[in-house]
Amino acid sequence: MNIAFFDAKPYDYIWFEPLSKEYGYEIHYCDYRLCADTAVLARGFDVACAFVNDKICAETIGVLKECGVRMLAMRCAGYNNVDVAAAAKAGLPVVRVPSYSPSAVAEHTAALLLSVNRKTHRAYYRIRDNNFSINGLMGFDLAGKTAGIIGTGQIGSLFAGIASGFGMRVLAYDPFPKEDQLEYVSLDRLFAASDIISLHCPLTPDTYHMISKSRVKEMKKGVVILNTSRGALIDTEALLEGLIDGQIGGAGLDVYEEESDYFFEDRSGEIIRDEELSRLLTLPNVLVTSHQAFFTREAMQAIAMVTLENICALEQGRPLENTVLPRS
Ligand code: NAI
Repeated sequence: MNIAFFDAKPYDYIWFEPLSKEYGYEIHYCDYRLCADTAVLARGFDVACAFVNDKICAETIGVLKECGVRMLAMRCAGYNNVDVAAAAKAGLPVVRVPSYSPSAVAEHTAALLLSVNRKTHRAYYRIRDNNFSINGLMGFDLAGKTAGIIGTGQIGSLFAGIASGFGMRVLAYDPFPKEDQLEYVSLDRLFAASDIISLHCPLTPDTYHMISKSRVKEMKKGVVILNTSRGALIDTEALLEGLIDGQIGGAGLDVYEEESDYFFEDRSGEIIRDEELSRLLTLPNVLVTSHQAFFTREAMQAIAMVTLENICALEQGRPLENTVLPRS
């Protein structure tokens, strides 16, 4: 099997290259993101391998098919950037890595919460500048507060456990609640009662901008919003308004709705032209990380293993267990 690997980064090479040799596969690493214009680079390859910010629309899929690609292998869990219906119509199987390290994402969510609340990201810079003042760095005790968790799949459930470990009361919302010890409530109740709100549901037409201007008004004053799921779950304008007028006390964001032009790239020598991102980055109570919640050794190893195993299933004509199907 030969694989056209789009949006490749040095860490991808480190984890995929040794393992691909064991499978006897040839990977062509390409810096470009997969989109309608670059899909032609997959000509002659069995598999196109893509990531979270590639744009896999119907046109991209059409070009991949025309180039003879037999499968699209997403090396991530989310697939909101893939037109799955168009792929099904074109007869192009799409596989993903449904789970690689939910702990990695849940733990990063906790890191964002602790930093935003106790302002360690600001303290770090102050002390490097010999400024030992603690004015403006006050946080609040997590113990005794309420965490509202939206989406209680693998990551949300783990984060619920972490929040409970801090002594927080956990409220949860999920259209498919699990029969366990979580206290499920309506979204209205969750928004009204939570001191922190953490998003762990997929991005779908139903969840797009679930944090909206009207929702922000329903939240507790000073609420901390955490998003390690997908950027477009939050209407950034609504978030900014809430942060500026104090309704929202802080935000820890690993994802951003317009992240694709910036995240994963070194743009340190450039002007950021995205005004909402620029404004977010100026606010002292906002911590943005660059979609790195997944980024642990364990997760990278699992991503490489499952992606190559998905490709091996295609090669050997086995059922593709991790296929992504269109929403019915
Ligand atoms: P999962 O599929 O195990 O859980 C998702 C949960 O969301 C399910 O329980 C589902 O019922 C629920 N859900 C579906 N629609 C909902 C709605 N309208 N409202 C509330 N809940 C809803 O997925 P997992 O592994 O927990 O991942 C969650 C999300 O985290 C993924 O969709 C992905 O976007 C994101 N993610 C982010 C990473 C990062 O590096 N920042 C890495 C991996 C995943």
